[in-house]
Amino acid sequence: MNLIVAVDENWAIGKGGDQLVYIRADLKRFKDLTTGHPVILGRKTLATFPGGRPLKGRPNLILSATPGYEVEGAQVFADVDSLLAAAPEDSIVIGGESVYRTLLDRCDTAYVTKIQAAFPADRYFPDLDADPEWEVVGEEAVQEEDGIRFQYVTYRRK
Ligand SMILES: NC(=O)c1ccc[n+]([C@@H]2O[C@H](COP(=O)([O-])OP(=O)(O)OC[C@H]3O[C@@H](n4cnc5c(N)ncnc54)[C@H](OP(=O)(O)O)[C@@H]3O)[C@@H](O)[C@H]2O)c1
Repeated sequence: MNLIVAVDENWAIGKGGDQLVYIRADLKRFKDLTTGHPVILGRKTLATFPGGRPLKGRPNLILSATPGYEVEGAQVFADVDSLLAAAPEDSIVIGGESVYRTLLDRCDTAYVTKIQAAFPADRYFPDLDADPEWEVVGEEAVQEEDGIRFQYVTYRRK
């Protein structure tokens, strides 16, 4: 199981139930890396998608303990154990904070987009640079879009 996340300089990932910033190149990369793989996400992250609908071209495995909660075109799991029993090994965790924190220990590779800016935020990802269990195995060149600099960094569990 792997994960993909976009973080700012403070490892912030969201504010007010939404992303910190939308970078078109990063959204395309997200689509390229996740298409064809099951994606694992929390109910609140699903709500950030257009129309609150699941991502196309990928089985959507959604965590929610809300009774009676159903999503057309997606599977909903009320707890982590039932999710893990159903999730294929090539699943990709796509957030948000609560789901990343719950499943980080199950992930081997983290595809991190590091945004070189600091935003007001209320959701965070654990700092992998401060975690001795993780190491950087790939760093791409810094890119810039609409004045925002960002870099793709791949971490792997040691
Ligand atoms: N920068 C990025 O790459 C990125 C990626 C994704 C999301 N985000 C941001 O992250 C924020 C959302 O994160 P979040 O932590 O607030 O919400 P979340 O993780 O997306 O969803 C939380 C919900 O998931 C369900 N859930 C989580 N763990 C569960 C468990 N163990 N068992 C059953 N249900 C579980 C619960 O739903 P119920 O309440 O229905 O039980 C919970 O309220 C947003 O701001 C979003 O934009 C950023």
